[in-house]
Amino acid sequence: MNSFTLKNTTLHAENVALNHIAHAFGTPCYVYSKAALTQAFERFSAGFAQTNHLVCFAVKSNPSLAILNLFAKLGAGFDIVSGGELARVLAAGGDPKKIVFSGVGKTEPEMQAALNAGIFCFNVESASELNRLNRVAAALGKVAPVSLRVNPNVDAKTHPYISTGLKNNKFGVAYEDALNIYLQAAAMPNIAIHGVDCHIGSQITELAPFLDAFDRVLWLVDALEQHDIPIQHIDLGGGIGICYSDETPPEFKAYALAMLEKLGTREVTLVFEPGRALVGNAGVLLTKVEYIKHTEAKNFAIVDAAMNDLMRPALYDAYHDIKAVQARDNQASALSYEIVGPVCESGDFLGHDRTLALEEGDLLAIMSAGAYGMSMASNYNSRPRAAEVMVDGEQCYVIRKREKIADLFALEQILPNL
Ligand code: LLP
Repeated sequence: MNSFTLKNTTLHAENVALNHIAHAFGTPCYVYSKAALTQAFERFSAGFAQTNHLVCFAVKSNPSLAILNLFAKLGAGFDIVSGGELARVLAAGGDPKKIVFSGVGKTEPEMQAALNAGIFCFNVESASELNRLNRVAAALGKVAPVSLRVNPNVDAKTHPYISTGLKNNKFGVAYEDALNIYLQAAAMPNIAIHGVDCHIGSQITELAPFLDAFDRVLWLVDALEQHDIPIQHIDLGGGIGICYSDETPPEFKAYALAMLEKLGTREVTLVFEPGRALVGNAGVLLTKVEYIKHTEAKNFAIVDAAMNDLMRPALYDAYHDIKAVQARDNQASALSYEIVGPVCESGDFLGHDRTLALEEGDLLAIMSAGAYGMSMASNYNSRPRAAEVMVDGEQCYVIRKREKIADLFALEQILPNL
């Protein structure tokens, strides 16, 4: 379902016109569709209905409390990578028993907080981390549930910055070392081996890398059984891509069928950590054209959103479709525009070479901005972060107020004698 559609020449989020949201709450503004979020989660889960499974939403893709709360109510678990994300999930009403904790750099306080909360599993990424976790758990008189994140050395065929399953990445333990480290873990009194974990990258648009990684994980699961180390769950990470322009990522149904077929008759719980696939196309970034500027070489539309609001184009050269909120009658005046923000860097662009009929004051929607949009936003150029709004049918609600300029330096102090 596409929850962002044109109705009578105006782009809507569900049944609310985006220009209404811009007038009511200002721009730049992230807008999410509750129906799109709900449907993505339900569709993803439906594929695994006949088997024990846990869908752990990757919090880093969009850590909004309202979105976490919505997913928690739908039965989701959560994939976290920091103490901050743990606190967010708990504040949003998430069930600690459905939390998996990933990440290569877990600190002792983070381990303590997660052990005290009683999370589902630690996805451990090195032998040193395993030793530390054993020690931290012992000091608390607890036993830590653990999966090793193995690096299956498969090529996810995605952008190098978001590919994580290759030998030269910092993530996980080398596939060849995994069995040995599991044997060490089995001898640790405050570690309980529960699962095997892998995550090979993000925005993956083919099935093959997932299947290759799963094959390697299953080989390890079977080898562990032979060593009397039974595995209760397999965590296959996240990474399913979405359509930003013309990509054709695997459908949830096809992904689920392929995974279930590979699993065969093994009785384990399947855990997934999707982020982008659940929220990416459920959000847009609404922005206003401040200035139109024609130069000898280019036409620029300078908008009030920038790289600090949506970093993906500047960081990965990522493509986001850009649509006019109100289609203009005079399409003949359409020109090719560079859609750029006000930040003082040439890398501050949201789209290159977009053919649009524009005037100053027009509203644009940067599409597919629900994942890694607000979550990667910064205050660069002392720009307050955008407001966030959730649409539900005819209703819309602010789920995060626009930051105030005073918020930006509230934690700072001047040293009078410096
Ligand atoms: N699990 C782990 C351990 C991860 O590191 C990630 C993402 C996920 C799950 C969720 O992956 P997803 O289903 O969203 O692909 N900022 C980049 C994406 C970075 C992804 C990092 N890890 C972007 O904007 O494209």
